[in-house]
Amino acid sequence: MDDFKRPSADSGDDKAGGKAERFSRSGFIFAAIGSSVGLGNMWKFPYITGLYGGAAFFLLFTICLLLIGIPVLLAEMAIGRGGRGSPAVALVRLSGQKIWGGFGLLSIIGAFFIMSFYAVVAGWTLHYGVLTFSRALGEGTDFAGEFFDFIGGFLPVMWQLVVMLITGWIVLRGASGIEKFNKILIPSLVVILLFLMVRVLMLDGAGAGVEFFLKPDFSKLTNESVLVALGHAFFSLSLGMGTMLTYGAYMDRQQSLGSAALAVGGGDLLYALLAGLIIFPTTFAFGIEPGQGPGLAFIALPAAFSAMPAGWLFGGLFFILLAIAALTSCVSLLEVPVAYSMDRWRWGRPKATIVTSVLCFLVGIPSAISVGGAVGGLHWGPRSFFDWTDFIASNIILPLGGLIVTVFVGYVWRDAGREAGLTAGWFIVWLFILRYVAPLLIVLVFLHSSGILKF
Ligand code: PFF
Repeated sequence: MDDFKRPSADSGDDKAGGKAERFSRSGFIFAAIGSSVGLGNMWKFPYITGLYGGAAFFLLFTICLLLIGIPVLLAEMAIGRGGRGSPAVALVRLSGQKIWGGFGLLSIIGAFFIMSFYAVVAGWTLHYGVLTFSRALGEGTDFAGEFFDFIGGFLPVMWQLVVMLITGWIVLRGASGIEKFNKILIPSLVVILLFLMVRVLMLDGAGAGVEFFLKPDFSKLTNESVLVALGHAFFSLSLGMGTMLTYGAYMDRQQSLGSAALAVGGGDLLYALLAGLIIFPTTFAFGIEPGQGPGLAFIALPAAFSAMPAGWLFGGLFFILLAIAALTSCVSLLEVPVAYSMDRWRWGRPKATIVTSVLCFLVGIPSAISVGGAVGGLHWGPRSFFDWTDFIASNIILPLGGLIVTVFVGYVWRDAGREAGLTAGWFIVWLFILRYVAPLLIVLVFLHSSGILKF
C-alpha cells in the first residue's frame, strides 16, 4: 500500500528514477490524438459504417462520441493527472482503497492484449504499404486470394516484430519521445488524408459515396446500430484501457482538461470524417459494396487503387496512412503496461519497455498465425486465437474498463470536480452523465457486444 501513497502535489518523485516525465500542453494533445486515431478510424469505422447504416450511423457515432465519449475521456484524464500514475496506481492513490488496484489492473491487461493483436494488423498495413509502393500488389487480379495467402502464412509474424521494434523504440524514449513522434506524424497524417481525399473526390461516381456517408437515411438504423456506435466511440477514443489515463499522468497541472478533451474528441471525429471521405467515394466509384466487412481495406480498396492511374502511389500512401495511424496508437497501448511496471515495481524505463515488448510480441504470435488459419489448432469454438483476443479485450475488458472509470469518478472520487476544473454548470452535466447515463449505456453495450443480449 505504501507504494501507492500519493506524491506531494507535483513533487516530481512519482516515477522510477526520481524525475517525473511530462508532456508539453500541445504534446499531450498530439499524443492523445495519436492514440485515438488509429485502425479504428481508418479500417474499422468505414466497414462498420457500411454495415450499420451509412450516414445515419455516422451521425449516431458523432452523438455517442460527444455525449458519452468526451465526458468519459475527461474522467480518464482527470484520474491520470490527479493520481499521477498508471491506472492501478492512480485509482488506489485517489481512493485510498486497495481494491481499486485490481480494477485498474484489468484495463492494463486489456491494453496489453489489444496491443498484442493490434500490432499484427499494424504489421499487415506496413506489408501492404511496401507491396503497393514496390508495385508488387495488383499484378494479378485476385486481391482476396493474395490477402488470404499473406495472412495464412508466417510473414505477418515478421511484420508484427517490426511494429513491436518501432513501438518499443519510441516508448523507450519516454513522454518526450512519444510527444515528438506524434508531433511529426499526426500532422503528416492530415496532409496525406487531404491529398488522397482530393484525388478520390475527383473520381467519376464519387458523389454517390459522399451521399452514402453524409446524407442520413434513418430507416437503415437498427437497435444494434446504437450499441455498435457507442462501443466504437469508446474504442475510437481509446477509452477503458487506461491509455488516456496513463497519458493524463504526464499532463501539465495548469492545462485545461475540458478543452484538451474537446480537442482530442474533435480531432478523432475529424479523422473519421476524412477517412470516410476517402473510402466511400472510392468504393462507390469502383462499384464495391461498402458493407463487406473487415476485408474492405485490404481486399476491396487495393483492387480499386490498382484500377486508377498511378494507383501504386495512392494505394501506397493509403497504407502508409494506416500504418502511421496504427503506430501512434500502438505507442499509447504499450505505454500502459510499461508505465505500470515502472510505477509498481520501480523498474527503469528501459527494463520495463524491453520486458513488456518481448512479452507482447510472444503473446501476439498466436494471433498473427491464427487469422488465416495457418495453425488450425489455434481455433477454439467459433473464433481463432486472434478473434478471441480481440473479442475479450475490445468487447469485454474495454466496456468494463469504461464502467470502472465512470463509477470511480461518479461515485467514489470526491475531488474529481476540482481536478477537472469545470464551471459549476458543466460539472453538474458531467457528473450526471458519469453517474446515470454512461454506466447504463455501457452495461447495455457490454451485454450486447459480449453476446449476452441479442436482437
Ligand atoms: N483508438 C484506437 C483506434 O481507433 O484504432 C484503438 C485503441 C487504442 C483502442 C488504444 C484502445 C486503446 F487503449
